[in-house]
Amino acid sequence: MSREEEKVVIRAMRPGDVEAVLAGRREVMWKLEKEEIISQLFLFIHHPYFFMLVFLTPLLLYYFLQMGVGACLVSGTGLVVVVEGFRFLLFWRNFRDGYGAKEPDILNLVHYYSHTRRSFLVAVVEGEVAGTVAVRETDDPNMAELSRLVVHLKFRRRGIALRLIQACHREAGRLDYTAVMLRTPPNNRGALKCYQKAGYIQYGIENVTRMYPHKFDLLKLIWKI
Ligand SMILES: CC(C)(COP(=O)(O)OP(=O)(O)OC[C@H]1O[C@@H](n2cnc3c(N)ncnc32)[C@H](O)[C@@H]1OP(=O)(O)O)[C@@H](O)C(=O)NCCC(=O)NCCS
Repeated sequence: MSREEEKVVIRAMRPGDVEAVLAGRREVMWKLEKEEIISQLFLFIHHPYFFMLVFLTPLLLYYFLQMGVGACLVSGTGLVVVVEGFRFLLFWRNFRDGYGAKEPDILNLVHYYSHTRRSFLVAVVEGEVAGTVAVRETDDPNMAELSRLVVHLKFRRRGIALRLIQACHREAGRLDYTAVMLRTPPNNRGALKCYQKAGYIQYGIENVTRMYPHKFDLLKLIWKI
């Protein structure tokens, strides 16, 4: 079935949709988190800091504790794994908090989006929730934030995200906003392409969390009505 023929209904979320919305979101977020862990680990093992740790730690143990070469290598590696593992866990906790896992809207979708300047839309294909998008206020009364854009895995690449973004723009106009901004990670290439296709341009970058050499930034994009 072509994109044009497929019947995609975009409407406001109803209380009966919440379970499907959260289940689809969990599946997508889990995939995004796995990709982020892999990309952070890849960056880490290619970073000069990693080589410095791996060579210097056993060397320092050898020099100061006069241990055997084998013992230095084993304890040095163990020490690096424990310390860096702990630092990564701290980074990860901040990442999850900053990337929305604990945000108040997710904890109570219906209540949060009943606010007069917020809206939560769902795309429905043959009675099934296929994707979501949200509009909410920012510090600037004329600017809305587009968030929670998620298309469930089996509905991808059928133009649903673009339709959700367009519906979000109409909703922003109805709620008296004149511009829409959003934040997205620079390595989320699919989402970036999709936003560019919808007319967004980059106007800033925000650091969510950093724990040298790990860091997590979000690009800030804007679309004006
Ligand atoms: C990003 C996302 C919303 C796209 O949903 P989608 O319904 O598959 O996107 P669409 O079919 O509307 O794609 C529109 C355009 O975006 C681009 N695009 C979308 N996904 C892409 C991908 N994985 N790789 C490259 N380009 C992609 C393409 O240009 C596409 O047009 P085309 O199919 O004619 O080439 C979806 O992949 C998703 O839910 N990702 C996880 C959640 C997420 O990253 N949300 C954004 C957080 S800021």
